[in-house]
Formats: sequence, C-alpha cells, structure tokens
Amino acid sequence: MATVKLENIYKSFGETEVLFDINLEIDDKEFVVFVGPSGCGKTTLLRIISGLEEVTSGKVVIDDKDVSNAPPVERGISMVFQSYALYPHLSVFENIAFPLRVAKLKEKELEEKVFKAADILQLRDRLDFKPGQLSGGQRQRVAIGRSIVRDPKVFLFDEPLSNLDAALRGDMRVELAKLHQNLKTTMIYVTHDQIEAMTMADKIVVLRDGIIEQVGSPMDLYHHPMTKFVAGFIGQPKMNFLKTTNVIVQNKKLTTNVTDSNSVTLVVEVEETKSGDVVEIGIRPEDLEITSDKKGLLMNVEVVEHLGATVILYGSVQEDGDFCAVLPSDVDVKPGQDIRLKLDPAKCHAFKENGQALYRIVGNDLTKEQP
Ligand SMILES: Nc1ncnc2c1ncn2[C@@H]1O[C@H](COP(=O)(O)OP(=O)(O)OP(=O)(O)O)[C@@H](O)[C@H]1O
Ligand SMILES: [Mg+2]
Repeated sequence: MATVKLENIYKSFGETEVLFDINLEIDDKEFVVFVGPSGCGKTTLLRIISGLEEVTSGKVVIDDKDVSNAPPVERGISMVFQSYALYPHLSVFENIAFPLRVAKLKEKELEEKVFKAADILQLRDRLDFKPGQLSGGQRQRVAIGRSIVRDPKVFLFDEPLSNLDAALRGDMRVELAKLHQNLKTTMIYVTHDQIEAMTMADKIVVLRDGIIEQVGSPMDLYHHPMTKFVAGFIGQPKMNFLKTTNVIVQNKKLTTNVTDSNSVTLVVEVEETKSGDVVEIGIRPEDLEITSDKKGLLMNVEVVEHLGATVILYGSVQEDGDFCAVLPSDVDVKPGQDIRLKLDPAKCHAFKENGQALYRIVGNDLTKEQP
C-alpha cells in the first residue's frame, strides 16, 4: 500500500519561484500522470516526491508518514529518468541486478528478482546481451527492470519514452499500462505529451506555471475542462475557440453570435454572467459535422489530411483565424474549398474572458437559433 499526499508545497530556487501551493492526493495503486508544458514544474515536483529536491515549504506524506525531510532511500520510491544511463560494459542481467549488488543481496535471491523482472518485461532471452545490442524500447525496459527489482512502493517516471520513436512510444505505452496492472503499484508519470496522459492515466494532473490547473480522470478533463488552458491542452487536434459578441443571457440560456452571423444557444448551469459579457465558445474538431445548411459555420479549408478512417481539415473561419475539423473519411473536400459546419450546442464549451470555463453545457435538446 502506498498513498502519496502533497500538502501546500511551495518551491523556489533562489529568487525563482517554481511551484505554488501544490495540494494533491494520490491513491494506492493509482496511475497518475503529471502533464503540462515545458518548464511548468513537473520534474521539480517529481524530484520533491522522490526526495532528490527539498521543498521550500509544505509536506510530502507517503503512507501517512511525513517524509518531507527524509532522504530518498527512506521513501521506498524508485525513479526512472528520460535518459536511462545503462552500463554499456555490463550485461542486461547485471544492469538490472545493479541496485541489488549495491545492497549486497545474496546471489540466489538476486537471481530470483532479476528473473522475475525480466519475465514481466519480456527480457528473459536478452539477459546476456549488452545494452548496445538492444533496441531503444528494450533498453528502456532494462532501465525499468532496474527499478522493479528494488520493489519500490511508488514508481516515478520522468518522460521515460521521449527518446523513442513514435511507434516504439506507442508500444511502450501499452507495456507500461500492463506493467502497472501486473505490479499493482502506485505510479507517477511525467510527460508533456497529452496523448500519453490520456491513454495511461487513472488520474491526470495538469500543471501550468507551477500551479495545478485541474485534476481529473482523462474523460473528465476531456469533457469538462475547467479552463481554456486545459481545454486546449487535452485533446488532439486541439479544441477550436471562437470569440463571440452580443451575449444575451435569459433564463439560464445564453445566446451568442459566433462568427459569420451564426448564433448558438447554450444551456448554462451556473448563472455567473450577464448579457454583454465577452465569452469564448470552444468546440472540438471531432465534434463538428459538415452540413448543407447555408447558415452553418463557414470554413475555408486550406489543408486536407487523410488519416484513413478520418480526414482532418485545417483552415480558417471568418474573423477567428485557425480552425480544424475532423470528419469521416468519405467527406470529399479539397484544399481551397469553402464548407459549412454544424455547431452542436450540446458539444460546445464556453469560457470567460479570464479563461475560466463558464458553464457546464447540459442536455441535447437544444435547438440552434438562427439570427
Ligand atoms: N536547479 C534549478 N535552479 C534554478 N531553477 C530551476 C532548477 N531546476 C528547475 N528550475 C526551473 O524551474 C522551472 C521548472 O522546471 P522543471 O524542470 O520542473 O520543468 P518541467 O515541467 O519538468 O519541464 P520539461 O517539460 O521541459 O522537462 C523551470 O523554469 C526551471 O528553469
Ligand atoms: Mg522535466
């Protein structure tokens, strides 16, 4: 059992403040992913949990024990880094066994642990190889093996796949998900790749400029982003945003013009706004449909990407610039063409001027109101 609790964590390096009031609870056996843009503090937070970095203030609690001042070895944690330094002159077996040799484990017990890790990672037939004779993915697995043999309570991974090519990254994502199911250990995984976060996490923590922007399951963040930043960060291709004018709020209904004389009406749960406020409407590319309705949103298509099952259209809508739509592959659209898109209000998100999500959009029984 290993729970991790972070309480009011602040971190500065000299004058540079890096983390601000981080509060987070990680459950036993949970797979948690820290995601966010470069420099937002992911590695620093991971190093604080591991004990490689001290907090400026706040507490790190592992299994209800305050370990804020405990050295790394006393925390029962193992960390796998982006640059996995394997010993080139040692065999795979000895690379995996390394921490156990340091701990002076008896040969028989050591062998058992290495074989078990090698089985889990499917490296059994590579134990006599040297790192130079392995593929990138196999080398990464050796590095993970070296972590596994230590039986940590918590695994920390800092961008372990970023040195691998796209296909291998995909394979390793699946391997890591399996590893988590087999080991049933708490794992904290850092990445700036939202696809890794979406596919592997039980819980995603979105960091931005040293603060936690939102915590939730992948689907929570996808369907109910609480800020425009999260909305734009989670999901590929990115959510489209349309500035709107003439907001009218009446009886929990917000009606607003998006570009091109279209208006949408959204049901709002919380009445936090009033007529005349500036609101931005967000719509995911995959939530759009092509329509023959002349009042649909007008998009000028510039680039057409055929992915097989779907086609991705990049272009612009009047006034708002870049726009993207993901449509079924049988849609016949050429670069340079103008198309009309249907905006389903039930799939729209709305954001205040300061980036906070304004409303939860509920219900599908909305009709698009034409001007
Ligand atoms: N030892 C240090 N001294 C001073 N500043 C540091 C130190 N380590 C990190 N920082 C600063 O803290 C901020 C967060 O760094 P961190 O490495 O945690 O970012 P990250 O989210 O892991 O980014 P990336 O995705 O690029 O790895 C950065 O602005 C960085 O310059
Ligand atoms: Mg980092």
